[in-house]
Amino acid sequence: MEAENEVKEQKEYIKKVKEKNKDLRPKYSILTMGCQLNENDSEKLCGMLEEMGYIRTDNPKEADINLFNTCCVRENAEEKLFGKLGELKKVKEQNGCIIAIGGCMMQEKHITKKIKESYPYTDIVFGTHTLYRFPEDLYKALKEKKKIEDVLDVDGKIYEDLPIKRESGIKASVTIMNGCNNFCTYCIVPYVRGRERSRMPKDIIQEVEELAKAGYKEITLLGQNVNSYLRVEKEKNIPFEEYEGVNSFATLLRAINKINGIERIRFVSPHPKDFTDDVIKAIAECNKICKLIHLPLQSGNTKVLKEMNRKYTKEQYLNLVEKMKNKIPNLTLSTDIIVGFPGETEEEFEDTLDVVRKVKFEQVYMFIYSRRVGTPADKIENQIPEEIKHKRFDRLKELVESQIEENNNKYVGTIQKVLVEGKSKNNEDMLTGRTDSNKVVIFEGNEDLINKLIEIKIVSQHMWYLKGKILKQ
Ligand code: 5AD
Ligand code: SF4
Repeated sequence: MEAENEVKEQKEYIKKVKEKNKDLRPKYSILTMGCQLNENDSEKLCGMLEEMGYIRTDNPKEADINLFNTCCVRENAEEKLFGKLGELKKVKEQNGCIIAIGGCMMQEKHITKKIKESYPYTDIVFGTHTLYRFPEDLYKALKEKKKIEDVLDVDGKIYEDLPIKRESGIKASVTIMNGCNNFCTYCIVPYVRGRERSRMPKDIIQEVEELAKAGYKEITLLGQNVNSYLRVEKEKNIPFEEYEGVNSFATLLRAINKINGIERIRFVSPHPKDFTDDVIKAIAECNKICKLIHLPLQSGNTKVLKEMNRKYTKEQYLNLVEKMKNKIPNLTLSTDIIVGFPGETEEEFEDTLDVVRKVKFEQVYMFIYSRRVGTPADKIENQIPEEIKHKRFDRLKELVESQIEENNNKYVGTIQKVLVEGKSKNNEDMLTGRTDSNKVVIFEGNEDLINKLIEIKIVSQHMWYLKGKILKQ
């Protein structure tokens, strides 16, 4: 069946569940683990649930549906899920709530097996390729009172036009592609999200235009490998329709930059090996593209990078950074780093510290290597002991934190454009927003500034946020 008709079919299931729920006002709770792609998937699940008549609650005990959208990139998410499932056993015995688990972890056979054996009271298990079918799974679980396992190993199609309930009215995420073809040796993502496939330019642009009309100011384009947008389609001669001249990531950025109402564009994550000159030029020339670029390093050592299958060397990474700094005024960088990859020696780890010292990242997301079943790195014999991994992590953290302080000081006295996001959570009298470089700024101001891009003078720095004063409105 065509994807379009499959979505239509699910809309019929949405109506059927809605009918069942008439006058009941049932509630749902959702727990999302993992990356922004998963958060965007959760927004789609929330959209479907709310169209079916469910109301969101933060209290799992009063929910008629307890939904988990899982991640499997690192081990700690598994422990978290099993802990929560254990806690829900009693709740389920008392109120008979539906327990549904979806997302990346459900694509792993050893996990679904464990759920069946140890948490048999789970009602619905669905994977990354069958998310769009959640209304049907739920309908069947409710009506037929049977357990549903709906996980596919074949790559899902691109499903357009699903309901969506976004978390914010100011910033929105737009998924531009699914899957990953890179097979970094530590990473489980290619196995659970399948091969790369891009959404059509027209669908993306129309979604962003609608978001602009609805008042959104900031768009984040999402994908496991955004800068290879449409690459597979071109390589394999899979037909795609150009729309407003879009036939690559660079042209997509340029087209979105032209959409009235949108004031900021971000994207995650690009891969350094695919960072072509046309993308660098587009970033430099498009005024709405934020100059904070996320450029995952993973390791600063060439041998480790080779074993990770990252396809660049330490020098190539540093050269790319140099080139970008020269071509993009006001560039700032953030990155991902893994410490304790199998076989990583003390000297090899020092190379990572060396790159961090040289590049001076705006933000570093640090991870301790976590063994993932089925990945090549899991089979390497020389795994690093936990204690050493933790020691290296702490050394990296210390370096990063010392750099943050130094970097924050550079902001004091400068004028920054800030997108105002709302009242500060810790102080109702203050507003909060973010700079182009994604730094949190707290300042005094009137509520009518929310969802506006304004100029703020930074007066002081406080490690995780900056304090500022309004300049002009
Ligand atoms: N262990 C630790 N970190 C990992 N990442 C991906 N796989 C693993 C793993 N097995 C990190 C990478 C990636 C980020 C999203 O998660 O740094 O960029
Ligand atoms: Fe994982 Fe590498 Fe693909 Fe990123 S690029 S999702 S780290 S395999």
